[in-house]
Amino acid sequence: MTILITGGAGFIGSHAVRLFVQRYPQYRIINLDALTYAGNLANLRDVEQAPNYTFVRGDIRDAALLDRLFEEYRFDAVIHLAAESHVDRSIDNPLAFVETNVLGTVNLLNAARKHWAGRFEGRRFYHISTDEVYGSLGSEGYFTEETPYDPRSPYSASKAASDHFVRAYFHTYGLPVVLSNCSNNYGPYQFPEKLIPLMINNIREGRPLPVYGDGRNVRDWLWVIDHAEAMDAILHRGRVGETYNIGGHNEWANIDLVYLLCDLADELLGRPAGTARQLITFVKDRPGHDRRYAIDASKIRRELGWQPSIAFEEGLRKTIQWYLDNTEWLQQVVSGEYRAYYEKHYEQH
Ligand code: NAD
Ligand code: DAU
Repeated sequence: MTILITGGAGFIGSHAVRLFVQRYPQYRIINLDALTYAGNLANLRDVEQAPNYTFVRGDIRDAALLDRLFEEYRFDAVIHLAAESHVDRSIDNPLAFVETNVLGTVNLLNAARKHWAGRFEGRRFYHISTDEVYGSLGSEGYFTEETPYDPRSPYSASKAASDHFVRAYFHTYGLPVVLSNCSNNYGPYQFPEKLIPLMINNIREGRPLPVYGDGRNVRDWLWVIDHAEAMDAILHRGRVGETYNIGGHNEWANIDLVYLLCDLADELLGRPAGTARQLITFVKDRPGHDRRYAIDASKIRRELGWQPSIAFEEGLRKTIQWYLDNTEWLQQVVSGEYRAYYEKHYEQH
């Protein structure tokens, strides 16, 4: 099997590439990534020499390139992760999200449709999506695969549009698609614009910890390697045309999560208890900030036997330790473009 993984140099993509390269030496894994600010080949140092792994730098907005790659490698499957992924950036520049998340996805669908024409048997186009397409929950209930779409940020609107296109290609052309919608991931290699690594980095540096609004927005956190495991199950055993929700059954209000992070970080850094909590600063809320996400993951558990593997406190401890042990990685990614983004974004708050 030859698999195209898009966005494999990003946070989740790098864990997916690692899992497939290491677990399936008989497969060929082609990682296509444009290396935007969020893509980083240092995320893949431990697999870059593997004989079954190839990296191609390229952009999913480039339809001609996709055509050439499908011709050259004759992919059996696509796992599509490449995307603009940060909600705050989508508020500043929605068009970049339309270009990559919508047009880029349609380019990939077109390439698969053309090159797999009449030979869909055994092939899979696996689209990775998010729980944010379902909108915002009140204090009760869960997102199921039947929850109507209600995206509320430019990011989630672009992901919803891409999901609709993937399903449309299934119904219209019979393309053998499968989709999953996952909750918030955490773990090593996450870019520090996202809540958990941003807080860890700021705790390290003794900088303010910017909590949006009242800090009571709720997210459902999942260990990133559990997401990669779910991808393995869905690619191999998911039913064509189906959607699987993936979540950690692990809801945290942001402020409670930040308290836990502070306490674990103080312990791991050998600082007096309570040191990091003093850095917490409530700042202006994110516009259109979704209040609560929570996933009902019973379908994937029932059909594919998948479930989260580790407890949150253990995963968070491992995550903090990883960032503290990998300051070189952190220094590299927080330099340059990120510094300018950070100053501009948090100045407005
Ligand atoms: P990320 O921002 O860390 O990585 C995105 C990767 O895509 C980067 O390597 C980047 O270089 C690449 N990329 C961006 N634009 C590209 C383009 N035009 N052509 C080729 N490559 C391009 O994102 P992530 O957090 O790893 O998310 C990966 C996927 O998973 C996204 O589709 C996202 O919507 C989805 N998702 C993320 C989460 C989460 O919690 N992070 C949860 C559910 C779903
Ligand atoms: O739910 C899945 C989604 O999770 C993915 O589709 C997205 O790609 C991913 O970025 C993530 O979106 P969120 O907006 O939930 O993640 P983020 O880390 O940006 O924020 C998590 C929560 O923390 C959210 O309620 C906003 C809040 N927050 C975030 C930042 C960056 C803060 O309070 N302060 C901050 O500085």
